[in-house]
Amino acid sequence: MANQRTLSIIKPDAVAKNVIGEIESRFEKGGLKIVAAKMLQLSDEKAGGFYAEHKERPFFKDLVGFMTSGPVIVQVLEGEDAIAKNRDLMGATNPKEAAPGTIRADFAETIDANAVHGSDSPESAEREIAYFFAADEICPR
Ligand code: PPS
Repeated sequence: MANQRTLSIIKPDAVAKNVIGEIESRFEKGGLKIVAAKMLQLSDEKAGGFYAEHKERPFFKDLVGFMTSGPVIVQVLEGEDAIAKNRDLMGATNPKEAAPGTIRADFAETIDANAVHGSDSPESAEREIAYFFAADEICPR
């Protein structure tokens, strides 16, 4: 599998728990490189736009409310098979179903506050990275 990039978000619950470093360490030890990163306080508009595909879902309002409840880290992870690797490291969306040793199993409690987001396909990764980063904010290394 070729080198890939994926968008990762460390969500407000994990930032509030002060486990940013522990989560970044999982990515680095898992073979992914952080090639762009910034801390942001998302507006309703920015969070709603990011999750626009879910806007008809019953949880959409809660999801936007949660994602704007405190700062997040948005970042680009790079590495071989980065999209799937990131999702393996994150674990299942619902932390109660996440495999032991995954980020969500270790740092999250509920499906609505589940510590991290990761792109689910090459198409989403491209769209999501461009949603937060200009090309010159990404530093391949
Ligand atoms: S789907 O159907 O596979 O597209 O949906 P899924 O990936 O499971 O979830 C999409 C994002 O919505 C969040 N989510 C929720 N938020 C609040 N309440 C409930 N009940 C809920 N269910 C799902 C979930 O954390 C996903 O966020 P991201 O950031 O994409 O991981």
